Amino acid sequence: MQTLTKDRFRYGKGIRLIDDSGVEYLDGVSGTFNLSLGYNHPHVVEKVQEQVGNLSHMSSTFTEPYVDEVLAHLVEYAPNGIDAGWMRDITGSTANECATKIAQKYTGANDIISLFLSHHGQTQFATGISGNAFRRRKFPNSAVPNSLHVPAPYCYRCPFNSSQPNCGFQCIEAISDQIEYASSGSIACMIIEPILGNGGNIIPPEGYFQRLRKLCDEHNMILIADEVQTGIGRTGYMFASELFDIKPDIITLAKGLGGIGVPVAAVIMQSRLDVLEKHEHSFTSGSNLISVTAAKSTLEVVSEPGFLDEVKLKGEILGDLLGELDMKYASIGEARGVGLMWGLEIVDQDGAPDVAKANAIIERAFSDQHLILRGSRYGFGNVVKVRPSLTVTEDEIAQIVDKLDAVLKSVG
Ligand SMILES: Cc1ncc(COP(=O)(O)O)c(C=O)c1O
Repeated sequence: MQTLTKDRFRYGKGIRLIDDSGVEYLDGVSGTFNLSLGYNHPHVVEKVQEQVGNLSHMSSTFTEPYVDEVLAHLVEYAPNGIDAGWMRDITGSTANECATKIAQKYTGANDIISLFLSHHGQTQFATGISGNAFRRRKFPNSAVPNSLHVPAPYCYRCPFNSSQPNCGFQCIEAISDQIEYASSGSIACMIIEPILGNGGNIIPPEGYFQRLRKLCDEHNMILIADEVQTGIGRTGYMFASELFDIKPDIITLAKGLGGIGVPVAAVIMQSRLDVLEKHEHSFTSGSNLISVTAAKSTLEVVSEPGFLDEVKLKGEILGDLLGELDMKYASIGEARGVGLMWGLEIVDQDGAPDVAKANAIIERAFSDQHLILRGSRYGFGNVVKVRPSLTVTEDEIAQIVDKLDAVLKSVG
């Protein structure tokens, strides 16, 4: 594991962290994948500073005009008739809880379906509906009643030992089976990440989301896209739902919405689903003005003409360079990603997941190359993630990949 101490770094500049002695580290993963605009984007810094000076917090009764501006901006980009929103959360975990509450209240149904390897947050509830059971082991209340988990569309390691394009989408068939034989028969929603981020940068195959939408319609299930990682430009689109044509009923957002790391979350939905009362879901800091201002100014930057096209272009450059590393090193089983959201599947000589090597790469990148990377499944997975801020330059992309190249050479 990386041995970062809390006070080691003093400043952030662009995509760099600078320590006490002035040594610079290149952040290849934008903090916790949340610094969509890097450490100190001038527009967001200016707007947040101004807001702190004026007014940091009011009761959410009074913040509505500020919140409405952000929601109006978000729904401009939202697919599938999403035209309303709720901004009373500060984290992705409770935003997801909010979305499932909406689905349960609207449908009057109970069950929540999610994917193996999914990560929807760290509260007991969010851990419960996530698909990494090992993280629930010591916490009995995280066994969420009515929560069902189904195999992920992980084509590189297909759980059915099948392969595209002739697999018949057995992973979708498996959801039908769960509904038929394992659910209570009263299903409120299915929650998915467009790209399973924490699970290993897993991108479902073409056609998956269309089949999933059909299944949701057949069973009157609300489809929730957890875009906490993929939202706000990460894939080169404001929402990955647009890229993959997902057609969700609800989208949850956090992380990148705060631009420079200011915590903020949002839930956007079709207005028929705008059913919650304030007393049913609201947190003290949920729509505090620092967060809302960070979201507003971040959206201003991301929606500047040409910004998302640049992300797409830089994503292609990063993808090509990582593809070259994939060809060069046998320890990379697959380099997969889209936009600025990439992962390297690290394997041993038999092609099995090599968690130890993935962690060694991350450690060496930090100690030898001053490059910050992160691993999948909280360090228990074998995927090394590369996700710089959307403001990364082409030169910095080349530097990240050069450093990674040196590390892979040394790790063997
Ligand atoms: C896809 C996804 N959803 C939800 C969350 C939880 O967000 P937060 O840590 O803000 O509660 C995360 C955090 O890593 C995430 O990656």
